[in-house]
Amino acid sequence: MAAKTPEEIIDDAQAWWSTSIIDIHPGKIAMRGYAIEELIGTVRFPQMIWLMLRGELPTPAQAELLEHSMVAAVDHGPHAPSIAISRMAVSCGLPVNGAMASAINALDDVHGGAGQQCMELYCEIAAEAGAHVEDEADVTRATEVVIGRWRERGIKIFPGFGHRFHPLDPRSPRLLALVDAAQAKGVVGGRFARIGRAVEAVLGRGRPKPIPMNIDGVTAIIYCELGFEPELGRGIFILSRAVGILAHAWEQKQQGARIKGPMPKTIPYRYTGAAPRPVPAQD
Ligand SMILES: CC(C)(COP(=O)(O)OP(=O)(O)OC[C@H]1O[C@@H](n2cnc3c(N)ncnc32)[C@H](O)[C@@H]1OP(=O)(O)O)[C@@H](O)C(=O)NCCC(=O)NCCS
Repeated sequence: MAAKTPEEIIDDAQAWWSTSIIDIHPGKIAMRGYAIEELIGTVRFPQMIWLMLRGELPTPAQAELLEHSMVAAVDHGPHAPSIAISRMAVSCGLPVNGAMASAINALDDVHGGAGQQCMELYCEIAAEAGAHVEDEADVTRATEVVIGRWRERGIKIFPGFGHRFHPLDPRSPRLLALVDAAQAKGVVGGRFARIGRAVEAVLGRGRPKPIPMNIDGVTAIIYCELGFEPELGRGIFILSRAVGILAHAWEQKQQGARIKGPMPKTIPYRYTGAAPRPVPAQD
């Protein structure tokens, strides 16, 4: 193979981190082609998130709906594992950034990160309903088919539904009402709200009480209505929850406790192992 010319080597090096997100030169910063000094003071933070992820600015109404979902998800109290982790980490001496990283790592499929799988569920139902996605009865039928398919794969617990703590998560009806209002104004189409409601109805069939849509289920509706790819769902949720994680890390730091475990030391855990016994002789 012929040796590369110096120009080709420089070209390879420049292509190494090729990006269409940001262009920086001495004295010049542009995001997606917009000068930062024009963006500052003009666009809101959710518009900036959208611009960074998708390349174009959303309308103010689209950004507003995204903002509503992000306001809703900032915190769920110190008993939420991610928040507890951030507080425990600080009490063990981690700086705030380390506590945030530890907490964010716990946001996965089961806790706080279920929105992404829920978006996949909704998209599969939308694909199943196809052109009939505007019809409520057809959406219910498509939902039954897809839930049946997931159950055949051994899935019993559906992402975005159920709650350990709330019989009805107060965030869900409020956010759904805001989605409905956005639909009435033509900001979103409303098909994913229809799908989310159908999933809740199908999961609750024959049960004494419903399996309520939780924050992940309703934020998944918003992200899908706004056209985000499912794989971005968890990341956007984390941008919001990071606010609560930071606030709790900071409060715990100021409270100053050291080595705080998950429970006060006066409350023992339950031991379920072998009774005390001698270690067998090692010949
Ligand atoms: C959050 C979660 C762990 C709570 O589970 P839980 O403590 O077992 O909830 P409950 O005790 O209220 O469950 C009552 C019943 O509903 C069922 N159920 C709960 N969530 C369900 C779901 N998402 N899909 C189907 N069934 C569900 C339980 O299996 C249980 O069934 P049973 O009565 O036949 O035994 C669970 O709902 C879940 O994993 N949801 C999906 C993940 C998710 O969305 N996480 C984000 C939470 S904010």
